[in-house]
Amino acid sequence: MGQVLVLYHSASGNTAAMARLVADGAGVISDTEVRLREVGEATPDDIYWCDGLAVGSPTNMGILSWKMKRFWDEAMFNHWGKVDGKVACAFSSSGGWGGGAEIACQSLQMVLMNFGFLVFGVTDYSGKMTTCHYGAISAREPRDAEVMEACRLLGRRLAEWVAVVADGRQDQHPLAKPESRTLPG
Ligand SMILES: Cc1cc2nc3c(=O)[nH]c(=O)nc-3n(C[C@H](O)[C@H](O)[C@H](O)COP(=O)(O)O)c2cc1C
Repeated sequence: MGQVLVLYHSASGNTAAMARLVADGAGVISDTEVRLREVGEATPDDIYWCDGLAVGSPTNMGILSWKMKRFWDEAMFNHWGKVDGKVACAFSSSGGWGGGAEIACQSLQMVLMNFGFLVFGVTDYSGKMTTCHYGAISAREPRDAEVMEACRLLGRRLAEWVAVVADGRQDQHPLAKPESRTLPG
């Protein structure tokens, strides 16, 4: 059973909406247990529990929010070096396209890498013009079908990698099931 944690901070609900979609996507993969946690309620035990985690934050000045940073700085500080090897990815909601959501994803990925997690991007598309190479992004609330699907795609890919890496389920490797993939062209 793969265990996926979707950890998020959201001041006004937009990243929370993304988090629910990411969790929905992860739940599509069989034998996957998904836990959704707002960062204020999360504990280090949630991080120990999971095999894979998606971390979401609003874009704040182009980077992760201070509340999300505080979780890793303070709550997780004494656990550094003890949680390596989990599969991880990022998502972010910004005020508008071009407002730095992908940079915010990269800042989240930087924190995840610092903790020794195996950070990945996604090559698939969630529609004709949308992908999540560096994580799922949304301008404000995810409303467009392609943006909503990008969030689900990120969660599904996370659960697939967890199935492969943590549970040795090679049948869940994305390259082993081309029918489930959506590549451009
Ligand atoms: C302190 C602060 C800084 C922000 N910085 C940015 C920014 O750099 N770029 C941007 O596009 N939006 C920025 N925003 C807007 C939020 O990213 C945006 O409203 C987002 O959808 C909020 O997500 P949430 O509802 O999950 O809190 C900022 C908002 C706040 C409160």
